[in-house]
Parts: sequence; structure tokens; C-alpha cells
Amino acid sequence: MIETATWRDLNALRHLEQVCFPLDAWPLWDLIGILTLPNVVRLRAAIDGKMIGFIAGDIRPSENLAWIATVGVLPEYRRRGIGEALVLACEGHLREPEVRLSVRVGNHEAIQLYLRLGYQKAGYWPAYYQDGEDALVMQKSLNAL
Ligand SMILES: CC(C)(COP(=O)(O)OP(=O)(O)OC[C@H]1O[C@@H](n2cnc3c(N)ncnc32)[C@H](O)[C@@H]1OP(=O)(O)O)[C@@H](O)C(=O)NCCC(=O)NCCS
Repeated sequence: MIETATWRDLNALRHLEQVCFPLDAWPLWDLIGILTLPNVVRLRAAIDGKMIGFIAGDIRPSENLAWIATVGVLPEYRRRGIGEALVLACEGHLREPEVRLSVRVGNHEAIQLYLRLGYQKAGYWPAYYQDGEDALVMQKSLNAL
């Protein structure tokens, strides 16, 4: 089930972030922000009430685009289509014509997912991550759907 996440999901989201992003887990305040601030699409994938995946879309109306800020699925639930369902559900909530995201250049599983969903490589941010890894920027036009 994919549904809107709320501040009640904070603890589950903390756990998911730490498991999914051991190098880049967001600090607590960013997680609170992503669960409460306006102009954010926040969706959780849940099985029997337990959060097993999460996605946040950061809407920037003045730029006419949205960024996928984070997406993650607990390891034991991967390769079942949940990541894909989360990205598609997030896109479905957006009114902006374009979506962008950044991903570690070595994150092949995520890049495969995005390519499969029609995202195209749009550029690189050198040494964007704390350990010096480059970010690949990808984008998708939602008008083309
Ligand atoms: C990236 C991530 C969200 C994918 O979630 P998922 O639920 O496993 O993805 P899906 O099952 O929907 O996969 C859909 C497609 O993506 C591609 N894909 C996903 N994982 C893959 C892998 N390990 N290797 C190759 N392709 C992969 C495949 O094309 C897959 O389709 P298929 O299973 O029919 O071959 C998950 O691996 C994850 O949480 N990773 C850690 C956090 C992360 O890196 N997030 C992205 C940050 S930008």
C-alpha cells in the first residue's frame, strides 16, 4: 500500500534512512522537515502497517520543477517493484512538468530504476557527496507521458 506519510512515521523513516543510506543518512531535523514542510510530496510504502519504503518529492513552483529528494526500500523488500511504484506514485502527485534527482554515480541499482522509468542523464556534480563521489543528475519530462 502506498499512502501519504506523516510525522508519525518519523521513527520508521529514521530507521529506513540509516539502513538505505549508511553514508548519507539525513540528520533528524531534515527528516522532520521532509515529513512536515509544505511543498513536499511524502509517500510511504507499507505492509501490514509497517513502513518498508519511502519517497519524498520536493516541489519548487518558482522553478517549475520538482526534485526527488530521497527514495529508499528496506533491503529485504527490494526487487519487488516497490521502488518503481513509489517513484510513479510520487510523479502522479506532481503538477510540475519536470522532475530531477541526483544519485551517486556508483549507485547502479538506482540508476537502472530511473533509466527504466524514463529518466535521462542530465549532468554531473563533481565530488558532491561527502566521501568525494560524483553525483549524476537525471531528469524526466512529465509532459512527455
Ligand atoms: C534503488 C531502490 C529504491 C530500488 O528499489 P526496489 O524496490 O528494489 O526497486 P524495484 O523492485 O521497483 O526495481 C525496479 C527496476 O529497477 C531496476 N533495479 C532495481 N534494483 C536493481 C539492482 N539491484 N540491479 C539492477 N537493476 C535494479 C530493475 O530494472 C528493476 O526491475 P526488475 O526487477 O524487473 O529487473 C533500492 O535499491 C534502495 O532503496 N536502494 C538504497 C537507497 C538508494 O540508493 N536510493 C536511491 C538514491 S538516489
